[in-house]
Amino acid sequence: MSPDVTSMQNTRYGSNAGQPLTRRDGLLKVTGRATYAADNNPDGLLHAVTAVSAIARGRVTALDVAAAKAHPGVVEVLTPENRPPLAHDPDVKMERFGFRIEVLQDNSVRYANQPIALVVAETLEAAAEGAALLNPQYEIEEPRTGLDNGVRFDPAAVGIGASPRSAHGDLEAGMARAVRVIEADYETPAQYHNAMEPHAVVAQWDGDKLTLDMPNQALAMSCASYAAYFGIPPENVVIRSPFLGGGFGSKAILNGPQILAMIAARMLGRPVKLALSRSQMYGPVGHRGNTWQTLRIGVDEEGQITALHHRALSATSSFDDFIEPAANASTHLYASPALLSEHQAIRLDVGTPGPMRAPGEASGSAALEVAMDEAAEACGMDPLEFRLKNYAEKEPGTGRPYSSKALRECYAEGARRFGWASRPLAPRRLRDEDGFLVGWGMGTALFPCPHFPAQARATLRADGTALVETAGVDMGQGAWTALAQIAAESLGLDPDKVEFHSGVSTLPDAGVAGGSAHTASAGLALHNAGRDVIDQLAAFATNDPASPLFGAGNIGVVARAGRLHRRDDESRSEAYAELLARAGQREIVGTGQSARDPQLGQAYAMYSHGAVFAEVKVDPDLGQVRVTRLVGAFAAGRIINPRLVESQYFGGMIWGASFALHEEAIIDRRTGRIMNADLAEYHVPVNADMPSLEAILIPEEDPYVNPLGVKGVGEIGVTGTVGAVANAVWHATGVRVRKFPIRIENLIG
Ligand code: MOS
Repeated sequence: MSPDVTSMQNTRYGSNAGQPLTRRDGLLKVTGRATYAADNNPDGLLHAVTAVSAIARGRVTALDVAAAKAHPGVVEVLTPENRPPLAHDPDVKMERFGFRIEVLQDNSVRYANQPIALVVAETLEAAAEGAALLNPQYEIEEPRTGLDNGVRFDPAAVGIGASPRSAHGDLEAGMARAVRVIEADYETPAQYHNAMEPHAVVAQWDGDKLTLDMPNQALAMSCASYAAYFGIPPENVVIRSPFLGGGFGSKAILNGPQILAMIAARMLGRPVKLALSRSQMYGPVGHRGNTWQTLRIGVDEEGQITALHHRALSATSSFDDFIEPAANASTHLYASPALLSEHQAIRLDVGTPGPMRAPGEASGSAALEVAMDEAAEACGMDPLEFRLKNYAEKEPGTGRPYSSKALRECYAEGARRFGWASRPLAPRRLRDEDGFLVGWGMGTALFPCPHFPAQARATLRADGTALVETAGVDMGQGAWTALAQIAAESLGLDPDKVEFHSGVSTLPDAGVAGGSAHTASAGLALHNAGRDVIDQLAAFATNDPASPLFGAGNIGVVARAGRLHRRDDESRSEAYAELLARAGQREIVGTGQSARDPQLGQAYAMYSHGAVFAEVKVDPDLGQVRVTRLVGAFAAGRIINPRLVESQYFGGMIWGASFALHEEAIIDRRTGRIMNADLAEYHVPVNADMPSLEAILIPEEDPYVNPLGVKGVGEIGVTGTVGAVANAVWHATGVRVRKFPIRIENLIG
């Protein structure tokens, strides 16, 4: 009979999970000892710089390769003329997360900043100078930069394989039944990830083995893809990605520049380093594509939604089809007897968009939450009251139950802490002592809980310490820390007794650090690996007449603080080290897998919930907007580390405020180039822009989402905040701005 080992679900013995531990990698980072990809300098290193196109559409007709090669220190110049062939056609997508990439397959230019050559040299300076000497000549075609000249099409799928259309009920009947129908158009701009660490790689070949130092959110998947491009087995590719200076989705997707560095390293037989410049990140490494959205909401006498229609037109590149799934934000939040969400796409001469923190949800909920506010206003209802009346108790369309009690608590607690009850209904009623217009707004936050398959290994050592391993990804969110806490808890050990190895692809696959699913996915694998170890140890102990636990197999044991205890008599216990010594074992190795129970996934809707409340102050003469308060209440299942979770919510909320007021990549319509491809003119909030932030962690036990009860926290913070800030601007000024970011000129004049 297998021993009944107490699971994480019903014990907190010796628990470290739930504790606000500081980041394991914190000291390394603040002392500069954390090495990022570009910090690696192997012997014989060459430096590569991409030359990028200055036009957005056309062909490169000439490059002065001779001039570049004549420059001292330049070793090679890769162009479409001499680029060695790849084993996989880069114009063919290879898997679920596959994208077409530009690796000098021809001389066409499909967006500004596309790589058109790679210069490799003995020094970075020589490579940069060589690239500057290439003097590209172009045959220029007029770039397609917006609604007037982009090519529209009906996409087969949106996001990563999602349906472009969902519908239930009779939309027009619902609209006909409404006493009022609110209809408005919304626009969101192109935004760029702008991770602090640029995309970089140090590529080294040893025969047909490839070692890569690079920031990467999806180690195993990337190894398989690189292997396919180079015609080698996946196990021949090793990715070392111990630290990422931000990812936000852009480092989960393959891109051309990094592969060019790998090609050059193989061609030249020496390690090659490439790090993109800030401006070169505006093109080949993904972005959040523009959307143009229309919402039509029918509301009855009581303020109940009768029909909801969300249409999104999403921009993609001329050659690939990542379609921001913005309209899908409406499919699962508010109850409507009739719903239609649908997408169109438009091709522009830009780099292909990709997933960026809360893809689809961020842009879609920005429009949806403003539209909800407009509907509430039309009904003369308080925006919170309107949402309380209309949020869905069961997932619209499927009828699967939500954990909607958690959402109600987010609304209630967020409103209470913010002081929402004293909000005047009409706009322009609040002023502060300096005469600034004050506005209060809110938005609902929602993010789904996907789950990626993952694996882990745990090794309990003779001295009672443990090593746990999984190829996880810490991109700043604190994965090392939270995942180690989960592992330590399952092993019944203090976290300082647990060594945590991660961030290299030779370890068991931890899945993708994306979709806000990493803690749940990799964490469950670690939990199961730890349990496997304890199961083995308990089997030995309960069958060993020399153990105080002998015969306790039916009663069960509890793993706590490095000892196994009899469940019914905790005074009877034995240390792991003693057990291992008597068993004559140097170590016990356990393995764990992670997957979602498909039946539970079918039966229950799985989402994190939240509500965000914002205060803004607007200068009545100058139109300048300041966010002065943000309060977010979020329910995301079991919280492993509240310090890290709060930090994730803050990051998401700051991004939401940034979406509402700051971020926009602006294209020069004459050239198709991005005019603000730098951190001086692409605005992101700095400390002075951000107010007092409060994130409230609403307790939630979700027994279905996964055995840990853990949900995602990384992306949800963006989703409610954009609308909350925009709605607060309306409440301050009486001006409804439907184009993001909200600008001064929208508010004055
Ligand atoms: Mo994220 S956009 O799932 O890294």
